[in-house]
Amino acid sequence: MPSVFIKTYGCQMNERDSEQVASQLVAKGYALAPSEAMADVILLNTCSVRDAAEQKAYGKMQTLAKELRRTRPDVVLGFMGCMAQSRGKELIDRLPDVDLVVGTQKFHRAADYVDDILNGKRNKVVDVEEETGSQATIREHVLGGNGHRAVTAFVSIMQGCNQYCTFCIVPYTRGTERSRTIADIVCECRELVAQGVKEITLLGQIVTSYAKRDLPLQNGKSPFVQLLEAVHNIDGLERIRFTSPHPKGYGDDLVEAYGRLPKLVESAHIPVQSGSNRMLKLMHRGYTRERFLGIIEKLRKVQPGIGITTDIIVGFPGETEEDFEQTVSLVREAEFENAFIFKYSPRKDTPAATMPDQVPQLVKEERNHRLLQFMNELGSRKYNQFIGRHVQILVEGPSKRNAARMSGRTRCNKIVVFDGSERHRGQVMDVKITRVGSFTLYGDPAILE
Ligand code: 5AD
Repeated sequence: MPSVFIKTYGCQMNERDSEQVASQLVAKGYALAPSEAMADVILLNTCSVRDAAEQKAYGKMQTLAKELRRTRPDVVLGFMGCMAQSRGKELIDRLPDVDLVVGTQKFHRAADYVDDILNGKRNKVVDVEEETGSQATIREHVLGGNGHRAVTAFVSIMQGCNQYCTFCIVPYTRGTERSRTIADIVCECRELVAQGVKEITLLGQIVTSYAKRDLPLQNGKSPFVQLLEAVHNIDGLERIRFTSPHPKGYGDDLVEAYGRLPKLVESAHIPVQSGSNRMLKLMHRGYTRERFLGIIEKLRKVQPGIGITTDIIVGFPGETEEDFEQTVSLVREAEFENAFIFKYSPRKDTPAATMPDQVPQLVKEERNHRLLQFMNELGSRKYNQFIGRHVQILVEGPSKRNAARMSGRTRCNKIVVFDGSERHRGQVMDVKITRVGSFTLYGDPAILE
């Protein structure tokens, strides 16, 4: 039985796509290898959002080609995902050891291609075509691959993006927005819940734009809110999350859903990118700082305990010290629980890559460092407020850092580590927070209920 190792770079969508490929290979009789060392097939599922992500995957493939190919000439090497989509055949031209390049609309074909290459039916395969309906092909799961039942699962509801932010490569690598049907998504979610899944995260590049062009509003509710309601109706499902939304998608219908749908957790990751209106306009984000802060205020009115996180880019072309200070002050005003801060990275064929006044690397690094420090201070203040409080957690499994302890998440998406055991897996329970680490809460087992 041949074995496959898939290494995934980048976002949760990529994790999900890798799972789809893995499940199809497993269905063909392949084993999932725990590491690349012994695998017959090694696939790198790539990310293009910043140059560093591309360099990492490219460097990894160079190493694999150099080290593995010498000792095991039959090993199959492949690129999948965003970098495969944007670079295509060029990847094989530059790295002739690569056998397979599979784009973002062809994940469901990867297993067949791997099989054909292993069986000598094909030599090299590059498939980066568009495919109608490909958004509905990410639907199989590998649950409990480690012998334990899965508690949480990702469900891909759409592909692509029509926003065309000037810094972003995603519309070019993932294509235009294409949504699955509500019935299809609900059917997948039901199957997951029947297998013991308690929490589902709906995934898409901009989930709040879900089926915007396919379905009409219903009683003022957007198709995305209609989908949330349909998933909410599934018995046995405890929690619903989603990522990522766009701020412009937070209409009153979605804000109101947080108060009305108890399974929709008090957590939102809302990328703001900048606190400067001048930058937001150049980025083509479609909202102002004031509008963004207004959305957060509304959400907090409906759910005072909501945990809000964000993405921020520092050093976008033309960003002055004043613009940057606006971002710092927005972070202070929005009281984010956490922020993922990125240094602007020019991307192929995007408008911002050729904008004037590119910010020097040293300035980007300095701003990144300053904002990170500020966010860490704010975050630790927020986390410290949890000491002594009771929170509800869903137990996911052993803690990543210390497998002797168990780990779960609060509804507002904070990790809680406690002394528990396997019997707690999948349980929703109350713990009292006794201690706080860096973006982690610790619960006291003595007070477990
Ligand atoms: N440079 C830096 N960060 C970027 N992101 C997207 N494109 C770029 C880029 N060119 C960030 C945004 C987005 C997150 C997933 O990655 O903050 O929300």
